[in-house]
Amino acid sequence: MATAQQPSIDERRSAAADRLRAFGQQHLLAFWDRLTDAARSNLLDEIDALPLELLQQAIAHRSSEAKSDRKGIVPVHPIVMDQLDTDPYVRAGSAVIAANRVAAFTVAGGQGTRLGSDGPKGTFPATPILRKSLFEVFAESIGAARDRWSARIPWLIMTSPLNHAETSRFFAAHDWFGLGPGSVHLLVQGTLPSLDRAGRILLASESTIALNPDGHGGALRALDQTGWLDRLAHEGIDTLSYFQVDNPLCKPIDPLFIGLHHVHPDSSAEVSSKVVEKTSPTEKVGVFCQRGESRFVMEYSDMSREMTEARDTSGALLHRAGSIAVHVFGVSFLKRLARDGHGLPLHQASKKVPCIDPQTGLQTVPTEPNAIKLESFIFDTVPAAKRALVAQTTRVEEFAPIKNAIGDDSPATSNALQSERAAQWLERCGVQIARDSKTGQCLAEIELSPRTALDAATLAKCATLPVSISAGERLAL
Ligand code: UTP
Repeated sequence: MATAQQPSIDERRSAAADRLRAFGQQHLLAFWDRLTDAARSNLLDEIDALPLELLQQAIAHRSSEAKSDRKGIVPVHPIVMDQLDTDPYVRAGSAVIAANRVAAFTVAGGQGTRLGSDGPKGTFPATPILRKSLFEVFAESIGAARDRWSARIPWLIMTSPLNHAETSRFFAAHDWFGLGPGSVHLLVQGTLPSLDRAGRILLASESTIALNPDGHGGALRALDQTGWLDRLAHEGIDTLSYFQVDNPLCKPIDPLFIGLHHVHPDSSAEVSSKVVEKTSPTEKVGVFCQRGESRFVMEYSDMSREMTEARDTSGALLHRAGSIAVHVFGVSFLKRLARDGHGLPLHQASKKVPCIDPQTGLQTVPTEPNAIKLESFIFDTVPAAKRALVAQTTRVEEFAPIKNAIGDDSPATSNALQSERAAQWLERCGVQIARDSKTGQCLAEIELSPRTALDAATLAKCATLPVSISAGERLAL
């Protein structure tokens, strides 16, 4: 039987050169003559994987066009979770979880450059006293949810080619935090090249392209191409509970939110999103907006000053539905989007990307942004939903992100919020907490494991609560 001939390296090079020339990217082969066979083969693999048509569209679509198109945009008025009769929704959500219809999904492929710590961000010690890693906090929460609803709740974690091996080693070294390796699944997202300001793809070395993970929106492609969307559907899982790796207060499995997603009349059970009230015009969160029937998230950098500062008659910010990047997705909704070709737009950001000069081969380590990084964002799925539900929660209850090493959204602010939420839950159970008489600030450091309680109501059933917690005390429960 005749076998198909593999193309020779020269044939591959010639095909790659033709393809690159058509898109003005032929400089990627500038150092070909100096490369070893292994390096040549690696470079051709990277070139073959480049989505050149998509890149050309992204370059042509100036982000200024999107910025100027703000006509007819009105604020979204979310469902306020605190003001609901929550019982029917919690019951509905609990039934969905108990029926093994839910999987948890963490996006953990980011580079965490602002935090600047070594290793994948999920391995960062995030809790105030025991310094548990973000992954451990989520593992405890998912483990507790599995016990509470006697449910399987598989946990999917998206990594990137840059941090996959280390993430996998971390979980293995911690024995998968007792969850069982067969129920935690790592899937690797794709990459996109960085460009110079003229739209030319940057080389990281003579034989490698400067590639970065393709954004949290890459989750759609990753879930589809790894076969996970089909596998979830096959296993009867129709609900994906999505959250980011950097928010230790998030509730990976929230029966109220899942219930709203499935039975609230405002929902088409396609995508539901959580927001908190944005209190300062300068806070760097995307905001849910609406044009006609269509809801979408507008990035803070795309909002005009007029929009960010506008206030309503009560004096509150007009556009205040700040996204906390917590969503529930219908699996069939994601499948529909994937079938439509992963068509999430590519956003452009100015970044510092080390690269080599294609003429001289000299290495550049930039001190100022020199490159355009392309990423897709998961919230760009929202406008495709028939009806996108938006639910408002409170900051202290669910949002303490760790983005920066110091200042806003840092380990210090996150630890204070984690302690504060624990204090509030304990107070609801009758525990006296020392607070500053003027500011009301909690004067103790408290860490509450999700294994102890997933919410204030279950904490009340805990037999071992202290009567009071005094100033300066450090207590892990
Ligand atoms: P951020 O936008 O905060 O980016 O990601 P980052 O990469 O973690 O940090 P910086 O900007 O380099 O400082 C929000 C969430 O999306 C995930 C991150 O891991 C985080 O959970 N993410 C981001 C991905 O999974 N893949 C990406 O390509 C980008």
